[in-house]
Amino acid sequence: MKLHNKVIWLTGASSGIGYALCEALLKKGNRVFASARNCTALNELQQLYPNLHVIPCDISDKNSLQKAAQQIHTFTNYLDVVIANAGTCEYLDVKNFDSELIRRVMDTNFMGSVYTIETALPFLYQAFKPYIVAVSSSVAYLPMPRAEAYGASKAALSHFMESLYSELKHLGFRMSIVSPGFVQTTLTDKNDFAMPLRIGAPEAAQHIIRGLEKERWDIHFPKTFTFFLKLIGLLPAAVRLAFTGRMSALHGE
Ligand SMILES: NC(=O)c1ccc[n+]([C@@H]2O[C@H](COP(=O)([O-])OP(=O)(O)OC[C@H]3O[C@@H](n4cnc5c(N)ncnc54)[C@H](OP(=O)(O)O)[C@@H]3O)[C@@H](O)[C@H]2O)c1
Repeated sequence: MKLHNKVIWLTGASSGIGYALCEALLKKGNRVFASARNCTALNELQQLYPNLHVIPCDISDKNSLQKAAQQIHTFTNYLDVVIANAGTCEYLDVKNFDSELIRRVMDTNFMGSVYTIETALPFLYQAFKPYIVAVSSSVAYLPMPRAEAYGASKAALSHFMESLYSELKHLGFRMSIVSPGFVQTTLTDKNDFAMPLRIGAPEAAQHIIRGLEKERWDIHFPKTFTFFLKLIGLLPAAVRLAFTGRMSALHGE
């Protein structure tokens, strides 16, 4: 698929990977409906790109998404591509176990992506070859210390996407799950641990675009990092736990 002249809805477009992807998609001549809660940066970008439509919304709130759908509908009755990219990250401190933190992260990363896809589906059914994309994380390959909430939300999203694909594939849908390693954004800038092979957001956007143009189901990068996690994830639980347990002990030191 050539990513040119496509009608695309992208969430989480106000910063980081989403912002870089939004700009790259616009440069390639697509019409982009870009969403986030704080749309200041997108309104500025809109001055440069008339093909950008800014659609503010909170993906964890179904009413907000319904309003977003109404706004999109004033411009188009179809979407070629939806990219559920918006997400958040909070790490659990097991000594102060907080189920509310887990609910917040699940509400945005899992239910927010589910609501986004639900909102996009009526538009996608009107497209010739619709494409659903969700941004998960390589953490879904291996349960890591402190990532109980974030990892579970992304593992749930990856599972949901694969199950959905098993049904929608026969209806002509294309789907991709994006699983980045570390990318430099506001989300990772607050991390207090080493982030091996961290890449920039514009580079991440190029990886995603290449993966989408090849219609790859599994888009992951940087490969040295993601293949390593995939490999450890395939090992028996006792070996995996020895590895991640060591990481947890190091963090506690
Ligand atoms: N950076 C990494 O290393 C990395 C690695 C793996 C996966 N990811 C995933 O990549 C995606 C993008 O993350 P990023 O690193 O680019 O982080 P980021 O710079 O913090 O961007 C997150 C985006 O999501 C939006 N967002 C968050 N909560 C939202 C909500 N409730 N409703 C609507 N929009 C919301 C934010 O905009 P507003 O705050 O304005 O709403 C922002 O545009 C996320 O799904 C993240 O989990 C990132």
